[in-house]
Amino acid sequence: MDIGAGSGSYEPTDLAVVPVEPSELMIRQRPSSLPPAVRGVAEALPLPDKSVDAALAVLTAHHWPDRPAAFAEIRRVARKRAVFFTHDPDATFGWLDDYFPGLAGDTTSRYPRLDEFDVLGRVTVEPVPLPSDCSDGFTAAYWRRPDAYLDEGVRANMSTFALLDDRVVADGVARLARDLADRSWHSRYASLLTLPQLDVGYRLVVAELAPAPAT
Ligand SMILES: C[S@@+](CC[C@H](N)C(=O)[O-])C[C@H]1O[C@@H](n2cnc3c(N)ncnc32)[C@H](O)[C@@H]1O
Repeated sequence: MDIGAGSGSYEPTDLAVVPVEPSELMIRQRPSSLPPAVRGVAEALPLPDKSVDAALAVLTAHHWPDRPAAFAEIRRVARKRAVFFTHDPDATFGWLDDYFPGLAGDTTSRYPRLDEFDVLGRVTVEPVPLPSDCSDGFTAAYWRRPDAYLDEGVRANMSTFALLDDRVVADGVARLARDLADRSWHSRYASLLTLPQLDVGYRLVVAELAPAPAT
């Protein structure tokens, strides 16, 4: 199952997948080549016990209002494994934090701390460095293309920006515009400009599911 499947951008096409997604708007954006999504939330998965091999959750766990309930549901429905692509709230978003303080902080971004996943079973965590030409538009995707953050349309696709105070965003955009215009951004972050990829806190979290501990 693909939880919080959205429009299905990362859904494997070589496996049988049950996408679960609460938003009708997102469901309508799914291409017809992908399986139709079942409407539902992670906290009450609309699937029977032990009915899938694995759970996939890409950039969605920070939207779940009750993560303990969602993790219990994953253990109920999935037999073997849960795979998350997420951001480590204890890591930084690199230079973006200098302009938009709070972007990586847990009070605003709500990304799960990595030890939260331990309730699922045996967990491994792998950094996922982002390529400089990352073609997706999530928060730190444009780390080497700073002009992109001046574009309101680009920021509108990043839920982390929506969680920040409007004044923090406006101040950061104004400072970034000024520093790009006078090239002080380029001198301050010169070491980044030739890097092909950068670790900006994204993580692949794989949990080999264990039965829930006895209470
Ligand atoms: C940033 S999108 C990611 C979509 C997709 N996984 C992807 O990577 O393209 C986050 C998704 O989580 C969904 N979502 C929000 N609250 C949820 C919940 N409680 N349970 C499951 N999904 C939820 C949203 O509707 C949205 O589609």
